[in-house]
Amino acid sequence: MNKLSIRDLDLKGKRVFIRVDFNVPMNAGGQIVDDTRVRASLPTIQHAMRAGARVILASHLGRPKGGPDPQLTLQPVAVRLGLLLAKAVFFAGDCVGEEAERQAAALPGGGVLLLENLRFHPEEEKNDSEFGRRLAALAQVYVNDAFGTAHRAHASTEGITHFLSPSAAGLLMERELEYLCKAVESPAHPYVAIVGGAKVSDKIDLLQSLMRFADTVLIGGAMSYTFLKARGAEVGRSRVEVDKVDLARDLLSFCERRSINLHLPKDHVVAEKIDAAAAAEKVNGRDIPANRLGVDIGPATRSEYAAEIARAKTIVWNGPMGVFELDQFAEGTLAVARAVASSSAVSIVGGGDSVAAVIKAGVASKITHISTGGGASLEFLSGMKLPGVEALTDKRSAGRSG
Ligand code: 3PG
Repeated sequence: MNKLSIRDLDLKGKRVFIRVDFNVPMNAGGQIVDDTRVRASLPTIQHAMRAGARVILASHLGRPKGGPDPQLTLQPVAVRLGLLLAKAVFFAGDCVGEEAERQAAALPGGGVLLLENLRFHPEEEKNDSEFGRRLAALAQVYVNDAFGTAHRAHASTEGITHFLSPSAAGLLMERELEYLCKAVESPAHPYVAIVGGAKVSDKIDLLQSLMRFADTVLIGGAMSYTFLKARGAEVGRSRVEVDKVDLARDLLSFCERRSINLHLPKDHVVAEKIDAAAAAEKVNGRDIPANRLGVDIGPATRSEYAAEIARAKTIVWNGPMGVFELDQFAEGTLAVARAVASSSAVSIVGGGDSVAAVIKAGVASKITHISTGGGASLEFLSGMKLPGVEALTDKRSAGRSG
């Protein structure tokens, strides 16, 4: 990575602003449902604490509508972080202003302060320059460890770097970029890309980018019915993006011309409707009856995809193979998760649903890299630049830093 790392900095006694992604799922009672993202940031926080830094953490949570929302306070995250660090974590009721500045200034070396939700100020998402300056006023050094938010050009990911120097990557950010860069720049072959999810339109850039380096592309989820339609199959009442059928046809002929092995489901699980009470029915063959809709890949497709996955040296997976939230339609997605887990390839799983699937299959520990960024990993693998990464100080221009 050509960006400055937190490991390159002398942090002793310095106030360090660390942008983390603590955008964790919460239930209606305000309890954290999954603290994976908090745990993923611990190495960076502990590194800074051990180095004697005064650690100021900032994150967004959810999408508040233009002002403070008590449902979206980061206070429960401060409590959870304190438990994980086995240390008191201070909490500032606002991310800018006098109280935050006073608390930041009073932090002892090795102390940790979490600021309230950045998005309680609409200026955060507008990347307002004055707001970036006010955030920067809290610290002397900037570290971005929020890979999950690196695709957003917000005040805390981009604007702040105009006022704080140096700006370095945290350890999680580095790890994410290391795996994802390798998957784009120097992957081992055969390279198998598994792409699922509801819409072709959400994954067009990803598919086009993957087709530059993948040897095999396995398609599943609702998007496969748009591709099947483009191939002339009967898809019944399955979800099809009618305006994307031509595009799907172009992608299919591109794959043929470039000898990319693109697989579509050859059999299906179908249902009368998507409902917890709806029965799963198997359909042998490519065509789906007129009164049914596809909800999962069938057993023959699962075996074919597992065989391709077993041959891979690099696997990138984004998007489920069906409506896996309902147990009776989850088997295809779980079978893919198990196949990826038993492969010896470098495997990278990104996107909230595919990550949930490897967790549901109980195989998360067998995946080489589970990305904490859904949208961010999708954009990165699609060949886009991430503003939160671009804004960091280049190693070679850093000179003596810290
Ligand atoms: C995510 O969960 O993908 C990140 O935290 C970014 O959240 P956002 O989509 O609300 O910007």
